[in-house]
Amino acid sequence: MDRLSGKSAIITGSARGIGKAFAEAYAREGAIVAVADIDLERAEATAEAIGPSAYAVRLDVTDQTSIDAALGVVEARAGGVDILINNAALFDLQPITEISRESYDRLFAINFAGTLFMLQAAAKSMIARGQGGKIINMASQAGRRGEPLVAIYCATKAAVISLTQSAGLSLISHGINVNAIAPGVVDGEHWDGVDALFARYENRPAGQKKKLVGQAVPFGRMGTAEDLTGMAIFLASAEADYVVAQTYNVDGGNWMS
Ligand SMILES: NC(=O)c1ccc[n+]([C@@H]2O[C@H](COP(=O)([O-])OP(=O)(O)OC[C@H]3O[C@@H](n4cnc5c(N)ncnc54)[C@H](O)[C@@H]3O)[C@@H](O)[C@H]2O)c1
Repeated sequence: MDRLSGKSAIITGSARGIGKAFAEAYAREGAIVAVADIDLERAEATAEAIGPSAYAVRLDVTDQTSIDAALGVVEARAGGVDILINNAALFDLQPITEISRESYDRLFAINFAGTLFMLQAAAKSMIARGQGGKIINMASQAGRRGEPLVAIYCATKAAVISLTQSAGLSLISHGINVNAIAPGVVDGEHWDGVDALFARYENRPAGQKKKLVGQAVPFGRMGTAEDLTGMAIFLASAEADYVVAQTYNVDGGNWMS
């Protein structure tokens, strides 16, 4: 299928996990994809496995110089940016009484400021080019409600949902659609790390939390990265031109508003 034929996309944090599945799906749909990640070696391996329609770019979303340089590479390689997925993020978990400044600063720097300033840089580039664009932010079910041990991550994702609304309303006059996807629990390396943190703080055997959250999903299992690609393709396509400032749950029925 060619729903993104000839479009230039940059996907942050796409060396692995959900971002990698997005990069593979976008390439299958005809896009030219920048696999942008702080882990350049892994981004290169991912891009190489996808083939000639993907290329790796080193990107640290907490560093404005790195953001500007990465977008410069995309403009040089593909003539501009049509689609941005703000996917890079970090998870952490602590009881409220143990939250550290360091964890707070790191999560907000990557999950929120990283999303904001990538969005800003891509939007400026899209406006200058005058052809509109699509920006997709990765939120989470964690942004829909708090969790006892997950205050900071939940707050960063609630902030991403709010930013999606403000940026969506601000940028649609330039033909730029900003929307978000809120996954539930998606199996992969990310959740291996989450499971290990819950094992420590809730005194559980390794793997137990993952099993429990999977059983609790109305669909009957954890999500896979591939479960999210349909929404990511739709939101990047012309079929979503009239979709503005929304956050879509793709979570097997975990959350309903
Ligand atoms: N996995 C889940 O269950 C789940 C659920 C809800 C939302 N999400 C969201 O989906 C997105 C992808 O999640 P995932 O499970 O694939 O995560 P992941 O941890 O597997 O991948 C994150 C990627 O981001 C990269 N990264 C980290 N810091 C970076 C930085 N400063 N600059 C650039 N890249 C950086 C990492 O190298 C990695 O490749 C995230 O926004 C996450 O919050 C995931």
